[in-house]
Amino acid sequence: MDTKDIQERGSWGSKIAFILAASGSAIGLGNIWRFPMMVGKNGGAVFVFVYILAVILIGFTVMLAELIIGRHAQKNPVGAIEHIKPRSPWKFIGYLGILTGVCILSYYSVVAGWAVGYLVKTASGVFSGEVTSQLTERIFTEFSSNPFEVLLFFLIIIVITTFIISKGVKGGIERWTKVLMPLLFILIFFLAIRALALPGSSKGLSFYLKPDFSKLNGTIILFALGQAFFSLSLGMGTMITYGSYLPKSDNLVSSAGWVCFADTLIAILAGIIIFPTLFAIPGIAPTAGSGLVFKVFPLIFSQIPGGFIFGSLFFLLLSVAALTSTISLLEVPVAYFVDERNWSRKKAAWMIGFLSFVLGVPSALSSGGVKFFTKIDFQNAMDFIFGNVSLAFGALLICFFLGYIWGVRKAVQEVLSGNPRFKLKPLWAFSIKFLTPVAIIIILIFIKTIFSG
Ligand code: TRP
Repeated sequence: MDTKDIQERGSWGSKIAFILAASGSAIGLGNIWRFPMMVGKNGGAVFVFVYILAVILIGFTVMLAELIIGRHAQKNPVGAIEHIKPRSPWKFIGYLGILTGVCILSYYSVVAGWAVGYLVKTASGVFSGEVTSQLTERIFTEFSSNPFEVLLFFLIIIVITTFIISKGVKGGIERWTKVLMPLLFILIFFLAIRALALPGSSKGLSFYLKPDFSKLNGTIILFALGQAFFSLSLGMGTMITYGSYLPKSDNLVSSAGWVCFADTLIAILAGIIIFPTLFAIPGIAPTAGSGLVFKVFPLIFSQIPGGFIFGSLFFLLLSVAALTSTISLLEVPVAYFVDERNWSRKKAAWMIGFLSFVLGVPSALSSGGVKFFTKIDFQNAMDFIFGNVSLAFGALLICFFLGYIWGVRKAVQEVLSGNPRFKLKPLWAFSIKFLTPVAIIIILIFIKTIFSG
């Protein structure tokens, strides 16, 4: 074997590893829990339509931008910006990302805890008898309003996440995801086919895929864009951090493309399971909010032989998918404290893990556990502020920084080392300088009108 061969095989191997790790970050509760909830609350297919446009036109642009910055600087978000533009206020992008990461981690882990709770419930036979929508409704309400159970599973997720990060991401988790993520994909694919075969599924399918453009409004566009950033793990430097581990030979354009594609596919399939089931077995409204998937999934398992096994497997894989995302959320602040503040990895991981647990307690108690937090819908408010607005704002700053401060020309140089032709260059340059920032600014201005109107 000559050296060229070895190099080629080597770089291909690292590409797969990267795509798995980045997809592991991107694919998670955002696809299976948040996406269907958003679709249900925001008019169905019209949301899906705007979402797909947002991924292609804006998500892909920002994904490539973050990977470029990360690979160029080979550092965490704060360090990366300092490297490109030393002693400038642009480092703020990195700090905002760290804050956003900790805050998203706090309420995201609560929902991840629900997934673990449902794994335990399903495996212990709670859904083994006759399953009706009234039953799944009641079980969710009882579970999510029980402070003890919810806090316990939430704590378990935080401890596992912190433990893995304190040991470094490289070790075990990559080996797990390589097997478990494809398995999740196969299971979801299979469940989607089953859902489509339910009698009466077509009504759900048309709610989900036949857009009614008269419903289109600013709120839908805001949430669709926010969902694209959330689902692709963009706007807070996760992909800067992950890109920093990429070799110069990697084709960043195709890497970004694959992650966007895999992530979107899983989200679309999750909807194909949820909506036909929802309409075929009436009793739950599409607008059910954060409980939606937990109320609907047990219904479909009750429709298949061996549903007990499939159900347990599903919630197991969902918990793992959530974990690969919580890990990426915690990695950003930890990388900062390790690189820039010389903390030990262990200290950084446990300190921030503890902080996000404390921050997450009100979210955990806002689905019936404590009246006050439930009334102000604390979890949803956190999701709106950090999971929507802050990510969009972060993405806007990243576009500005790359497009106008660092400069598209230098960024393009970084792409060329692994992709000498870079055919999408003119389109990407246009999107990063004009299309994406203008779209985000318009939408951020919209927020005011949404809340005053
Ligand atoms: N994208 C993940 C999901 O869909 C969640 C996530 C992980 C995330 N890292 C992130 C969201 C960084 C925003 C920013 O479940």
